[in-house]
Amino acid sequence: MTDLPWYTSFAPEQGTLPPRSWTADSDAARLPLGGDWAFRLSPAADAADTSFAAPGFDAGGWRTVAVPGHWVLQGKDGEFGGPAYTNVLYPFPVDPPFVPDENPTGDHLRRFDLPDGWPAGGGAVLRFDGVESCARVWLNGTELGWFKGSRLAHEFAVGELLRERDNVLAVRVHQWSSGSYLEDQDQWWLPGIFRDVTLLHRPEGAPGDFFVHASYDHRTGTGDLRVDCDVPGRVRVPELGLDVAAGESVTVPVEPWSAEVPRLYEGELTAGGERIGLRIGFRSVYVEDGVLKANGRRILFRGVNRHEFHPETGRAVDLETLRADVELMKRHNINAVRTSHYPPHPAFLDLCDSYGLWVIDEGDLETHGFEELGWRGNPVDDERWTPALLDRAARLVERDKNHPSVVLWSLGNECGSGAGLGAMARWIRDRDPSRPVHYEGDRSCRDVDVYSRMYPPHAEVAEIGRREDEGPEHRRALPFILCEYAHAMGNGPGGLSEYQRLFETYERCQGGFVWEWIDHGLVHPVHGYGYGGDFGEELHDGNFVCDGLLFPDRTPSPGLVEYKKVIEPVRIEPGERPGTVAVTNLHDVADLSGLAFGWEFLADGRLVGAGTLDVPPLSAGERAEVPLPAAPEVPEGAEPVWTVRAVLAADAPWAPAGHEVAWGQVPAAPATAPSVRSVAVPPVAEGGRIAVGPAALDARTGAPLELGGLPVTGFGLDVWRAPTDNDEGAPWQPDTRYGPLWRELGLHRMRHRTDAVEVTDGGVTVRVRVAPAARDIGLAVTYRWTSDGTVTHLGVDVRPEGAWPVPLPRLGVRLGLPAVLDRVEWYGGGPGEAYPDTRAAARLGRWESTVAGLQTPYVRPQENGARIDTRWLELTGGGTGLRVAGDPSFWFTARRWTGVELDAAAHRPDLVPGDTLWLNLDHALHGIGSQSCGPGVLPEYRLEAAPSAFAFTFTALGAAAAESGA
Ligand code: GAL
Repeated sequence: MTDLPWYTSFAPEQGTLPPRSWTADSDAARLPLGGDWAFRLSPAADAADTSFAAPGFDAGGWRTVAVPGHWVLQGKDGEFGGPAYTNVLYPFPVDPPFVPDENPTGDHLRRFDLPDGWPAGGGAVLRFDGVESCARVWLNGTELGWFKGSRLAHEFAVGELLRERDNVLAVRVHQWSSGSYLEDQDQWWLPGIFRDVTLLHRPEGAPGDFFVHASYDHRTGTGDLRVDCDVPGRVRVPELGLDVAAGESVTVPVEPWSAEVPRLYEGELTAGGERIGLRIGFRSVYVEDGVLKANGRRILFRGVNRHEFHPETGRAVDLETLRADVELMKRHNINAVRTSHYPPHPAFLDLCDSYGLWVIDEGDLETHGFEELGWRGNPVDDERWTPALLDRAARLVERDKNHPSVVLWSLGNECGSGAGLGAMARWIRDRDPSRPVHYEGDRSCRDVDVYSRMYPPHAEVAEIGRREDEGPEHRRALPFILCEYAHAMGNGPGGLSEYQRLFETYERCQGGFVWEWIDHGLVHPVHGYGYGGDFGEELHDGNFVCDGLLFPDRTPSPGLVEYKKVIEPVRIEPGERPGTVAVTNLHDVADLSGLAFGWEFLADGRLVGAGTLDVPPLSAGERAEVPLPAAPEVPEGAEPVWTVRAVLAADAPWAPAGHEVAWGQVPAAPATAPSVRSVAVPPVAEGGRIAVGPAALDARTGAPLELGGLPVTGFGLDVWRAPTDNDEGAPWQPDTRYGPLWRELGLHRMRHRTDAVEVTDGGVTVRVRVAPAARDIGLAVTYRWTSDGTVTHLGVDVRPEGAWPVPLPRLGVRLGLPAVLDRVEWYGGGPGEAYPDTRAAARLGRWESTVAGLQTPYVRPQENGARIDTRWLELTGGGTGLRVAGDPSFWFTARRWTGVELDAAAHRPDLVPGDTLWLNLDHALHGIGSQSCGPGVLPEYRLEAAPSAFAFTFTALGAAAAESGA
């Protein structure tokens, strides 16, 4: 073992400085070394020698790459290789600590001069904030050392070696190292120097490190402050009138820091000739009586798991992107982030401190690929790896310890169990007893302070909430969080509201973190956004890497809109007393004084009145029934509804005044349908067609040829939907993977048999049997077409035959219309898509869109875009149009491709609009669930085959109205 090359040794580093806290706010000189670096790629670790590190080396023939950056995402036409995505599998033989000969190696060179004014004297350090997977570093021909730990900061002392002009920094990076065994996170493998490289001046006697201890005592309203520093120094916090020695403790009255009220006190530490800015947040986080508390109060995580990701630059993210993430989170009511599964860019935590987000800061550690091998050889259970594990723990804690936003340390993710984890936890507790420790992968919970799980079903969460779960006794005394839940892959996740109710019901259930924040779709020349397999990988996990609440370009997906609604910190719902609205303040800390309330009164979705609503500044947890004003007059038969909204009363750093935080709707009176007395006109059969008022049916099949004067094709009962990722399900739950089961049953290729077309004076009755080939189950369908001469009415009656083994994807009719109908207006739920278990964010109103605008662009195309609770829908364009009203209200989707085409598409560009507008009018839809990784559709949202009846009324609009004589 002694002659292992450095990059496959067990040791984590050589020649580096001890880890210390990161700060962007110091008056010491710094020189950012980002930019274009000379670059040479070799196919193996030893394919090129190290002579490039010597001053005078001519790198004239080399290419360049941008630093920070990943080389595999740069260069032309894949000249530097490509990204590769695996979830669990190591893309190399599991033979730790060795790696294969095929080990892409990037040699990087950067020349630099010291800037004018660079202080004379003192020392300097060279800092790397992130290099995947390891780096060996030379300055001016002298080797500084090497390190592993891709998302951890490493520094070298370089003062002696620096020259005023023409310094040569040489860095050799191997894609694979022993460190790769510890970095098997579910993400792209992306080698390179992907975070900043900086030269920092260190004045003579400058502090090695400092540690801000700032706790809060909610009983006295005071904060304790002590700033430890390894050299003598002074700490000043002008706002608190403090000027004390480093290391001295003081107790002062303060306002506490929380994610809701992120109160920071600006201060400074002056020590050893350096001035370091401090942003102090006083807060105490601890477990008490089995509950996780901050400043004396239970907190509820409304969280997300965040990987660092940009669709063009991978994990090299710039400051604007970091800020965009934080602002988007705040605007969507998110209050917590788990930095899955490694410490983020250090500046991200500064933003969390100032904008207010609770952070679970996670170590750069995952060994999931060993699970495939029954955990044989798992590094966390092999003491040869313990120094590397402790190094990762130390580099996490030391870098990030001064952030008030960091409230839990997480050892890592999916490493199974082993003594190495215990050693990490002990080291962390010893160094920073002020924060609880988290790790999900060991059910014994021996090393942690919170019980954490990923993807448990609702029923199990309730059981855990009641502390009735089986398992070690001491675990039942711990608070419970879902470090991952609600897998946001493709359409979904479903079932969020039901989880939230559990978090609100059981004190022990302190919320969770949706998996995950953003789709990791990488820009691809052909596919738009590429996922696993699109870059020629041998082993990959397909689109499992696209499972975020944001699309790759950071556009919120409907899942994020839904999550925002479900976790809103104010609940607005019908009051128990008539004429009132109930307002509940669900914040952990804040009262409602920061919000302004207003009402709108809608009649059939039209605004007929609006005003402000006087809501008392309820404290966290309080509820009030607030009287609504007298309801404005509405036209007879119109459906009246109140919408009450809570918006920011003043500008916040993350959104302007007026930004909507929460809303609710309160029906004003039961909807009364106008009584229509219509007299049926008798159908007229002629030349193979049967006219039913403005509709024409095919006399042989009974299918409509025209509706409201518009040509109709492809009419029929439709039960198919392009399976969502959640329908496709995860391999470990085969019995409920409905996508494959539906396909196996043949629901995508149903056969239709017309049994009868019966014409009477009252209308036309068409009897059809719809069934999959090779099966003896089916659906007996009766269509009843009637007309009063102006509109056409269709009643649909469905009776299942035989024993249906699975729920139906959808139940409704489908028809093809001319694509010229491009404008859509509807009265119902909107504006975005909704499914039975993802419907919280749909509000009743009148909405408009183009057909293109109705589509949700999931990276892997799948069922999408349904609109819920539709009372009526109008499709118009080219001067013509069709109105559809439903009884009861219905769901619709409208697209320029069929469900079968949607199903066949693998990437967005595969969907090419055809010349037919395919309209699905659904009576019911199967729910969405979260089964791409978590639990399936809850029983109440399953669409079981059952007798059903529903009806639509079709009315011609525009030219179609004129032609059809309506
Ligand atoms: C979890 C894992 C995540 C991710 C997720 C599925 O098991 O911790 O990293 O793989 O499943 O998307």
